[in-house]
Amino acid sequence: MADGARARCGSGLARRHSDLVDGCRSHHQALLALSEGSWQWSIARLWAPAAASPTRILKSASRRPKGRKVASTKWLERQLNDPYVARARSEGYRSRAAFKIKEMNEKQKFFKKGSRVVDLGAAPGGWSQVAAAAVGSTDANPLVVGIDYLDMDPIPGVILFKKDFTEDDAPGLLIEALGGHKVDVVMSDMAWPTTGHRATDHLRIVHLIEIAADFAIQVLAPGGSFVAKVFQGGTEHELLHMLKRHFNTTFHIKPPSSRKDSAEAYLVAKGFKGSNVAENAEEER
Ligand SMILES: C[S@@+](CC[C@H](N)C(=O)[O-])C[C@H]1O[C@@H](n2cnc3c(N)ncnc32)[C@H](O)[C@@H]1O
Repeated sequence: MADGARARCGSGLARRHSDLVDGCRSHHQALLALSEGSWQWSIARLWAPAAASPTRILKSASRRPKGRKVASTKWLERQLNDPYVARARSEGYRSRAAFKIKEMNEKQKFFKKGSRVVDLGAAPGGWSQVAAAAVGSTDANPLVVGIDYLDMDPIPGVILFKKDFTEDDAPGLLIEALGGHKVDVVMSDMAWPTTGHRATDHLRIVHLIEIAADFAIQVLAPGGSFVAKVFQGGTEHELLHMLKRHFNTTFHIKPPSSRKDSAEAYLVAKGFKGSNVAENAEEER
């Protein structure tokens, strides 16, 4: 893409992104004021959780040193006993989350050799590692670009940005890093630390999904896929409805490596219908 065209594409993306981020913020502040305690949840668990091995001997973080909170001791015990944590370490993945995208791709096959991939909320990097291996991304020909506001160590074949994705220039930077080309897979595992207040947590994740989905619709190539973390069984009706207009198939899945006791699930939208549909739908609004 020529520099001028890229700059135009970048600034259009930035303007739209910024409007959406602002719009979402005020919408969700208003909703938050109205909605406390009134949300209804239903989780569509399409996959059964992985069965625990009956013979596994559970390790315990036996004695709690002075000063360590009960919650951190529980977290440590869970990490020590989690087979995916052990597998991630032995297979060289940065996070157990790597298995989630691996399992979803094994079922849904959204990565192809040569696909271009954007990873939103990439740290510490498990999803990017899986994507880079699956699409054959190398430092000489990078096909995967990731963004997170946290620090990340470099990953071979992946271009990483330390940045908040809600900033205006973030979408343009990601696309520019991929040479201005359309993208085949946009994946978002973005999540804010939970507050423990369900309505607040829900609104915060909905905000992230909305901006990720909007980005996907702007940058995907026809046939492309969008994968995003959602919570509490779902995606808001309006957003789901919008995605159904733009993609041939949309559904929720819970991969076996996603913890049984976590409300997390993933939205997968496949077969992007192309920008013309996006533009027509925009005019219909
Ligand atoms: C569950 S972790 C991602 C794990 C990752 N998929 C992996 O495999 O290692 C969620 C990440 O989203 C990031 N995040 C949340 N909001 C973000 C935002 N607005 N911009 C960039 N990153 C964000 C967090 O910093 C966190 O690192």
